[in-house]
Amino acid sequence: MNVAQNIVFNTVDNLLITCYWKYKNEWCFLFYIFVGGIVITFKMNKQILVTGGTGYIGSHTVVELINEGYETIIVDDLSNSSAEVLENIQKITGTMPAFEQFNLTDKVKVEELFVKYPNIEAIIHFAASKAVGESVQKPLLYYQNNLVSLINLLECQIKYGVANIVFSSSCTVYGQPNILPVTELTPRKDAESPYGNTKRVNEDILKDTIAANSKLKGIALRYFNPVGAHPTALIGELPLGVPQNLVPFITQTAAGLRDELKVFGDKYDTPDGSAIRDYINVVDLAKAHVVAIDRLLSGKNKANYEIFNLGTGNGVSVLEIVNSFEKSTGVKLNYKIVDKRVGDIEKIWADTTYANEELGWKSETSLEDTLLSAWKWEKKVRGIK
Ligand SMILES: NC(=O)c1ccc[n+]([C@@H]2O[C@H](COP(=O)([O-])OP(=O)(O)OC[C@H]3O[C@@H](n4cnc5c(N)ncnc54)[C@H](O)[C@@H]3O)[C@@H](O)[C@H]2O)c1
Repeated sequence: MNVAQNIVFNTVDNLLITCYWKYKNEWCFLFYIFVGGIVITFKMNKQILVTGGTGYIGSHTVVELINEGYETIIVDDLSNSSAEVLENIQKITGTMPAFEQFNLTDKVKVEELFVKYPNIEAIIHFAASKAVGESVQKPLLYYQNNLVSLINLLECQIKYGVANIVFSSSCTVYGQPNILPVTELTPRKDAESPYGNTKRVNEDILKDTIAANSKLKGIALRYFNPVGAHPTALIGELPLGVPQNLVPFITQTAAGLRDELKVFGDKYDTPDGSAIRDYINVVDLAKAHVVAIDRLLSGKNKANYEIFNLGTGNGVSVLEIVNSFEKSTGVKLNYKIVDKRVGDIEKIWADTTYANEELGWKSETSLEDTLLSAWKWEKKVRGIK
């Protein structure tokens, strides 16, 4: 086991050495009598590299990792997040994560990272460009950023002997499935966008690399629609420009930043005609990453490459979300039905049986509480009382 050891020396009267360490919220103690009256304290935490750790899902995951006794090292180029997130993680957890600012497509920097931190036990790879529309305009930027970053990490994992990786994938790999809900065995479809294709290809890169390297183990987590914010409202989703996702669009409209919420399409084959998605609370999602890391580090994985769906199992329509937001916050939303968006699928939600039973993880937070957390975060960011 590679461990970080922090050694603290204190002088005491009773000539005792105390050694203790914390692993997964459990403190372990060892005592030695020592002539000289010094207490030596060992604190040992497993190191997890979190790429994209100042981003939306990454920052929530860093908080949950720290809460569970892991030591985190964040790499982020801050292309879609800010360094303030680090201070807010510290406010929530009392711990400032190690932080390295660089772009993961820079292989030299990635190598330097693995040399600087020789005790990394596992990686959670969030860092990616993620705007679907932008990926259609700039496909090479997306292929370059999303594919090269993962390839660089995997090459260094092999070279420096880091066995474990958890990868952020997406339900976008299922396209519009023929049968709902989708299980992990539902066939993937051709991607609707270059962004979606990077998730599909990255899954394949991971699967093939693990098949060729028996020491590597990986888990691809296919997220459905992550929403909400940390209950402290210290971290949350902060999209640049006009939000692409429904909930930030709702909260920005409620906050007065947008004149009206556009509901894209009401003629879908769904009960109220609007599109259906599976909205998963971001803290619940973050906790699933800790479970995935525990699974890899404790060798509980059933195969060297595994895939899990992360959703709630409930499909909720856009109009249901609008109603739920209005009901839980008491804020009336100005919304308008407009034409459906090109590339949007009609409906998707997860079958969570495999994640619930095999991973041992389940979403817990209600949609109402999740929407309230998103609104609390938006109000905090905009200075609304
Ligand atoms: N948010 C969603 O709806 C959603 C859904 C499914 C999958 N995902 C995936 O989850 C992951 C995290 O998403 P998020 O919503 O937190 O996104 P985010 O943009 O908030 O976080 C990604 C972070 O990665 C950083 N980054 C991007 N490219 C980098 C690079 N080359 N080197 C270093 N840092 C880099 C950005 O600065 C950002 O802080 C992404 O891989 C995304 O594709 C997100």
